[in-house]
Amino acid sequence: SRTPLMAGNWKMNLNHLEAIAHVQKLAFALADKDHEAVEVAVLPPFTDLRSVQTLVDGDKLKIRYGAQDISAHDSGAYTGEISGPMLSKLKCTYVTVGHSERRQYHGEDEAVCNAKVKAAFRNDLTPILCVGEGLDVRKAGEHVAHTLAQLDGALDGVDAEQAATIVIAYEPVWAIGTGEVATPEDAQEVCHAIRRRLAELYDQELADGVRIQYGGSVKSGNVAAIMSQADVDGALVGGAALDADEFVKIVRFRD
Ligand code: 13P
Repeated sequence: SRTPLMAGNWKMNLNHLEAIAHVQKLAFALADKDHEAVEVAVLPPFTDLRSVQTLVDGDKLKIRYGAQDISAHDSGAYTGEISGPMLSKLKCTYVTVGHSERRQYHGEDEAVCNAKVKAAFRNDLTPILCVGEGLDVRKAGEHVAHTLAQLDGALDGVDAEQAATIVIAYEPVWAIGTGEVATPEDAQEVCHAIRRRLAELYDQELADGVRIQYGGSVKSGNVAAIMSQADVDGALVGGAALDADEFVKIVRFRD
């Protein structure tokens, strides 16, 4: 049984003061009720991480946090980059790798994603590997093949012990920030295919343990239907995660 992971990807929103206010709201709203069956994480900009750490440290609530990107290198002359050792020093749990916005605006290809996945594992961070097709690929009916090729590329040389802990986020690019949510059946089709591929690459037991999220225009009004699908184990939430009340409703999708 996989614990659902509801993660808020803030993208380039909320400065560190806003982050403090936001996480305090989450902590307060989630304190009064048992939500242990769901794991909650926030993925703020780098500049917020220290503030979020200070708030969450020693908090029984276990709101986890992570970064939105990681350098493939652990140190050195890479101006503007943030390394895995820096993120693990901040006690990040997660780091997203290969978000479609990184792929689109920063030219991240399979080799880069593969190196970043390995950098995450090397530094005891759990990668949330983002995969998913654009509209043209979907229209051509190639969405499963395209997404699995991204998965294969990113996992090249990743051993079973590491792969067992990864989180995969299926985020169809046409559904990101567009209000155009995939149907629950669309999400299930690709999430199931991802799990099948993990079973081929590793084994069924490993595949059955890996959490696969859906992302793309998730809101409180559509999250329950998406989460009802057998192979969907959580949501990676963008816009709707910027509003603490809305994100809390998403976390409590079972209510
Ligand atoms: P939206 O929820 O704003 O569509 O963004 C999804 C996303 O990209 C999460 O990583």
